[in-house]
Amino acid sequence: MGLRVAVAGATGRTGSEAARAVQAAADLDLVAAVARSRAGQDLGVVLGDGPWNVPVETDLDEALRRSRAEVLVDFTLPDVAGRHALLALQRGVRPIVGTTGIPAGDLDEIRRAVADAGTGAAVIPNFSFGILLLARFCREAPRFYPEVEIIERHHAQKLDRPSGTAMQLRRVLEAAGARCPVPVHSVRLPGHVAHHEIVFGGAGETLTLRHDTQSRASFGPGVCLAARRVMRLRGLALDLESLLEE
Ligand SMILES: NC(=O)c1ccc[n+]([C@@H]2O[C@H](COP(=O)([O-])OP(=O)(O)OC[C@H]3O[C@@H](n4cnc5c(N)ncnc54)[C@H](OP(=O)(O)O)[C@@H]3O)[C@@H](O)[C@H]2O)c1
Repeated sequence: MGLRVAVAGATGRTGSEAARAVQAAADLDLVAAVARSRAGQDLGVVLGDGPWNVPVETDLDEALRRSRAEVLVDFTLPDVAGRHALLALQRGVRPIVGTTGIPAGDLDEIRRAVADAGTGAAVIPNFSFGILLLARFCREAPRFYPEVEIIERHHAQKLDRPSGTAMQLRRVLEAAGARCPVPVHSVRLPGHVAHHEIVFGGAGETLTLRHDTQSRASFGPGVCLAARRVMRLRGLALDLESLLEE
């Protein structure tokens, strides 16, 4: 029996890839899938992967209770994810929020609820190992190049701007000594998935770091890692790197 993982937003662009990764991991069990529609349909069939024996449910509270989930992974909407995380914490389930753009007040509430419960939770704007490595370099570079700007490009359906990842990278750059505030430019156009470019300018030279997400399948391994590590965590992790230490 593996770690029991529920996914909210399991029929969506990103949640479906998270669910696929959990389903494929030998040490994780996908025990519940939540969305607003498709109630009662098997998630594997909905995703075109064949039966998984995991029905889509619309009531998160009921799904957590029925499935005895230990971890909730959320890829829903900015105004929904905070409520989901708080509900999970009330039920003794550790939330991993992948949804970006959640209001600051919701994040504060999650932080308080995690402290009160003495448990672990994560709000992670990007599950890609490429972004984890990019963030490491962003900690080094401002020492030599304090002038830096971020360009983020995403698909036209993305609700939040700037992206949660760009805001995370900006915090890293500013903490490492970049000129504040680091400007962030947002592009929303068809044809994109998720792309982040960090451009450092020095005397007579520029240095450009660029990460491209071609497929949301790239988030799966990071989601699985977060699910395993959040079980050992006390407190709130705000990036994938801090979970690596657990
Ligand atoms: N952290 C990361 O690495 C990462 C990577 C990519 C995206 N994201 C973020 O993930 C979020 C989702 O993006 P997406 O493109 O996957 O969205 P999407 O394709 O629109 O999927 C949203 C999912 O949430 C479900 N949903 C919406 N409201 C719900 C509710 N009240 N209760 C239960 N389920 C609900 C939808 O179900 P219905 O279709 O039935 O409404 C759908 O399954 C965004 O905030 C995005 O920025 C994060």
